[in-house]
Amino acid sequence: MKYIAYKENTLLCEDVPLSELAEEYGTPLYVYSKNQIIEQYRYFNNALGDPRHRVCYALKANANHHILKLLANEGAGADVVSAGELFLALKAGFSPAVTVFAGVGKREDEIEYALKQNIFSFNVESVSELHTISRVALRCGTKARISLRINPDIDAQSHPYITTGLLSTKFGIEASKALEVYAYAATLSSLELVGVHTHIGSQITRVEPFIATANYITGLVGKLRETGIHLSHIDFGGGFGVQYVNAVEHEAIKQEENPNSTVPTPAEFLGAVLPILQTTGCAVWIEPGRSLIADAGVLITRVISVKENTNKKFVIVDAGMNDLIRPSLYQAYHQIVPLSISTYESEKVDVVGPICENTDFFARERMLSKTNAGDCLAIMTTGAYGFVLSSNYNGRLRPAEILVNGDRVRIIRPRQLMGELE
Ligand code: LLP
Repeated sequence: MKYIAYKENTLLCEDVPLSELAEEYGTPLYVYSKNQIIEQYRYFNNALGDPRHRVCYALKANANHHILKLLANEGAGADVVSAGELFLALKAGFSPAVTVFAGVGKREDEIEYALKQNIFSFNVESVSELHTISRVALRCGTKARISLRINPDIDAQSHPYITTGLLSTKFGIEASKALEVYAYAATLSSLELVGVHTHIGSQITRVEPFIATANYITGLVGKLRETGIHLSHIDFGGGFGVQYVNAVEHEAIKQEENPNSTVPTPAEFLGAVLPILQTTGCAVWIEPGRSLIADAGVLITRVISVKENTNKKFVIVDAGMNDLIRPSLYQAYHQIVPLSISTYESEKVDVVGPICENTDFFARERMLSKTNAGDCLAIMTTGAYGFVLSSNYNGRLRPAEILVNGDRVRIIRPRQLMGELE
């Protein structure tokens, strides 16, 4: 299922050489493979098996309208965290009946909008939020379906900035209070208690934290039943990691020798937790973002210049941290490769952007194929948390986005124009 790969010495997205796209549409440029997105969704959906189970795409990973439409057409549900994301989801055709609303700080107007759209459920983060949702539901003369997001205090073993299942983080209701808060929520007449929600973090690369979470949830659902509270729905969250190293292979490109590089497949993650969760008889929904879309995208950038200091070489490219912030924010690794292989020589370099910050880098001390000004590079595995986190910092225009389907190419977001900076 690798739709972005080398054919001889040319990097292709499906049937289209990426160098042709760089020439035609300019750089920096996000390019996505339509078939990779669809196949990855189907792969997840098949791995879930039972038709009551559901994949709810976490819009925060990539909210381009045309990509959302692809997933909505496939029948995916939506995981949203703001009125804005709900608006985008509905506009793209996601059904409110399979939409869940998460997030630690929902405003009253956002709750009211979601209630009026009749979404499936709110994932509630605190007792005070229970009160707010209950009040808004009363005011609107309706009932709100809710799940409680429980923080199980399980370490996702990911980057601390994207770890959300520990008590030291702001997320969810602490596990020790879960029974008490469920009992209280059951007394609020404008709420309908449907389920339980967890999301312990992102880019999780081991099955163990997920297994611990599944065991916790199963135990909780059982204990609640003993108290007369019968849940029908488990929202297991997202967080399934993807493999960033060695995303593409070519004999001219040095492969990373990273012992932690093998990440379980979605089928392996789900295979480890579904049998546990299914013992509850509940419908199981998951909220993957990254693992649905990361592999389907690349960021194309052009080398502006190569600069040598006494003991360092910098490859200065025309994309910056304003286009892709993951390396700056999480010291995240993305493989960087040439669009056309013209040499088997490599050298140790820093790949940096044009922004006036020392954190504006894509790779440090990395062995990269020898490159010159004017060459184009692909920053791999950037379909998720790429464009959505882009900004106009330093007066830089947001890049264009392109969707490739076989040999067909479509602009799904034009490059921002100077006039739009005002
Ligand atoms: N559900 C909830 C409640 C979430 O907070 C998130 C992500 C997801 C689902 C989707 O998680 P995923 O399957 O994509 O791991 N900007 C960071 C990632 C932040 C994730 C925030 N929450 C990055 O670039 O690594």
